[in-house]
Parts: sequence; structure tokens; C-alpha cells
Amino acid sequence: MAGAVIDGKAFAEGLRARIAVAAAQFEVHAGRKAGLAVVLVGEDPASQVYVRSKGKQTVECGMASFEHRLSEDTSEHDLLALIEKLNADPAVDGILVQLPLPGHIDEQNVIATISPDKDVDGFHVVNSGRLSVGLPGFVPCTPLGCLMLLKDKLGSLSGLDAVVIGRSNIVGKPMAQLLLAESCTVTVAHSRTKDLPEVVRRADIVVAAVGRAEMVKGEWIKPGATVIDVGINRLPPLEASPKGRLVGDVDYASAIQVAGAITPVPGGVGPMTIAVLLRNTLVAAHRNAGVDFDESSL
Ligand code: GUN
Repeated sequence: MAGAVIDGKAFAEGLRARIAVAAAQFEVHAGRKAGLAVVLVGEDPASQVYVRSKGKQTVECGMASFEHRLSEDTSEHDLLALIEKLNADPAVDGILVQLPLPGHIDEQNVIATISPDKDVDGFHVVNSGRLSVGLPGFVPCTPLGCLMLLKDKLGSLSGLDAVVIGRSNIVGKPMAQLLLAESCTVTVAHSRTKDLPEVVRRADIVVAAVGRAEMVKGEWIKPGATVIDVGINRLPPLEASPKGRLVGDVDYASAIQVAGAITPVPGGVGPMTIAVLLRNTLVAAHRNAGVDFDESSL
């Protein structure tokens, strides 16, 4: 029997609806809207699409969106000056600088300049440190979205064997920390891992975040395992799909035959990222304004 499809699009819609209700309540208590500033440097087409969606969904949830589009040749000095201004602006609760940045700008300097209390991406070392020691902070949006889908599907994750494939700062490492905090036994696999199929075969939970189209095969998956596919890869154009089909890091057709449940691409993890960004922004707004809020209610 084929596994269940985990509908991230529907889950994200529900989350955004809860955020909209809580954002309206925040506005009543604080006398202002929660606000998210998004900074885009340059003209990368994929980044432009993401930034447009972020702005649109922020406004749809009843929050204020501040967009700053800077030219490709903006100096690091000018970008840092803008971030300092946003750090000091009481209307801005969250700051997101869209990555990747042009090569002449040092990403780590940029991330380090964002106030940790407005770092809704959860990329600042203070927030990654808080995550690793179990203090409240901000958690990167994509792995937190994956965790929400896993808990929705499985309930308690305690004692489960989890394999995270990929060790990026944005997904792999924070995902491993989140699963460890849920009392999973966590393995982080990567490009140098010996016998990856054998490592994946042990896992009750597989999170694939490597950026290699359809790399994880169904025959690697333990029967009944839950598979979270973070990859978004565009295949070369074919006559049947002239723009090139979007696929994940998991070979969906074979994996769904074995998995207990699996996220599709598109419509799985993707829609969760922006929804969690809005959640983090609303959490930041309550903390910054000193308004009580049950963060687990989202
Ligand atoms: N580029 C791709 N994903 C992300 C993200 O989650 N945050 C930021 N700031 N840039 C990105």
C-alpha cells in the first residue's frame, strides 16, 4: 500500500489563518501591527519571487511589510547601515536579508549585524547557540516547518531514529538540533558519509536536504518511515514540461511505495517556510512589545 501524502500546503494555510487571528489580537493590544522588513540585494530572479511572496503573505496575515530593494552594487557598508536602522526602528519586529548575497558582501557580517531579537530567520550565532542549549530564541524557518509537519503526523517523536541528510547552517544542522530536542536519536549524513543507503535504511524519520534531484531512492527507505523532502530541484526541460519539472531530493515515485508518509514537491515543505517566517515575526512582535502570548498556540 502506498504511503500517505503529507499536505504541507494545507498545513501552511491553516497556520497562516491562526497567525492572522493572533496578529489582529496583537494589533489591539500593542496599538500597532507586527512588522517584517525584507531586504533584497540585486536581481536574482528566484529571490525576487520569494521576496514578493513574503511581502504578499505578510500583508494577507494582517502584518506590516517593509521591502527594501537595493542594487547589486550596494556596498557592504551601506547594507550594514540599513540593518542598523531597521534594528532601531520600533515598527520593525523581524528583519530578513534574502540570501544569497552578491559575492562582494560577507554574509556572516550581515547576519551578525541583525539584532538577535529581530532575527526571524534564526541565522544569528546567538540564536543557533540558544537552539543548541535549549533556550528560547528564533529557529530557522524551514527546519521548524519540517518539525511541525512531523509532529502533526507522528505526535511524539521520542526515541525515534532520525537521519538528516545535509549539514547546512540553514536546514541540516538546526534540523538535527530540533530532532535531538524531541528526543530522537539523530544521525547527520552528508556528502562524505559511507554507505548512505544503509544509514537511511535505519531511520524512522528521513529529512533530505542536500539539493540533489531524486537522490534518495525508495529502496533505501525503511518500510513505514516518515520522509520529509526539503529539496527543490528543477530538472532539464523536456517536451512534456518545457520549463523543467520540479522535483525534491527524494525519488518520490519509488519512495511513496515504501514510506508510511512523505511530503511531495511541490506542496510539501516549500509552503511551510514563509508561514513559519510569519509565525516567527509574530512571536518577535509579542516579545519586543512585551505583550503576553502563548507561542505554542500557533
Ligand atoms: N534564501 C533561501 N532561503 C532563505 C531563507 O530561509 N532565508 C533567507 N534570508 N534567505 C533565503
